[in-house]
Amino acid sequence: MKQKVLSCIQPTGHLHFGNYFGAIQNWVSLQEDYDCIYGIVDYHAMTMPFKGKELYAQTNEMVLDLLACGVDPKKAKIIIQSMVPEHTELAWIFNCVCSYGEVSRMTQFKDKSSDLNSQELITAGLFTYPILQAADILIYKPHVVPVGQDQKQHIELCRTIADRFNKSHGDIFPIPEIMLTNLPKLLSLADPSKKMSKSLGEKHYIGIYEEEATIREKVKAAVTASISNGEMAPGVNNLFQILRASSKSKVANYFEDQYYNGTIRFVDLKQEVADSLVSFSNQFREKRLEIEQDKTFIKDVLSDSALFCRKQAQETLRVVKELVGLRC
Ligand code: TRP
Repeated sequence: MKQKVLSCIQPTGHLHFGNYFGAIQNWVSLQEDYDCIYGIVDYHAMTMPFKGKELYAQTNEMVLDLLACGVDPKKAKIIIQSMVPEHTELAWIFNCVCSYGEVSRMTQFKDKSSDLNSQELITAGLFTYPILQAADILIYKPHVVPVGQDQKQHIELCRTIADRFNKSHGDIFPIPEIMLTNLPKLLSLADPSKKMSKSLGEKHYIGIYEEEATIREKVKAAVTASISNGEMAPGVNNLFQILRASSKSKVANYFEDQYYNGTIRFVDLKQEVADSLVSFSNQFREKRLEIEQDKTFIKDVLSDSALFCRKQAQETLRVVKELVGLRC
């Protein structure tokens, strides 16, 4: 029996290489050894300012992107959160087994609410977001939840909720393990003091389907610097991270030696980095084309996954409702 993995991503529009190397590449390798459920959490995306049309389109794009990156529907289920409404129903129940104080300690809420300008609402949804996340997880009783460091506190809260529910109402939730993924957090090539992100603008990220010419342009323009006080410049480290994430550790080591002894030619290093990214993006575009040619493929994947996952979700929810005295 394989262990069960669950992880989710917000639909933020097409993926960039920061997302790919920082999470999705790992999802693709986990599907070989685990029974995986990967969720696209559209309800979570409503916690920051959003427009319905965009949310709908971005959710579709994310399905396509996951498939193009190699998530294989024969090995992993891809679900859209709002297609399994049991998550939100369980979240309400968890709202009532979780304290205000516990939710108030979540640092991501503080970060995200301070990103909003004075005209924008800090919604109650943004505050209770980690409770819905706990429901996303526990409803499928997974063994492991792979996430980055930034989500650790949320998964700990999820474990607290599971434990409290078990003690108060009935022992039904296995406590999921956190699988902390120490994957690279790519930086903006144009400004390595910031994370690679779409919100910074075009030159700060490389999209997974980006054309060869612009990839090469952006990599060529990447900010580099020589060693200072024995420390590698962040922009240079970023390029090495890309090489290592592309299974080119030997090449990375070779250039790293040259960096430390001062003989490196950055044009050569950048050439290698650009070659890697170009070969990934060619592969992703090809796969995307193949998927787009089959008009019903995505629809079928989503409805099969939703059917499979809803069965489990409904069963968990049925037991939970019974235990807490609600009616089905
Ligand atoms: N909060 C996560 C993020 O922003 C997304 C998420 C929602 C999630 N539900 C989840 C991640 C369940 C793991 C498991 O990245």
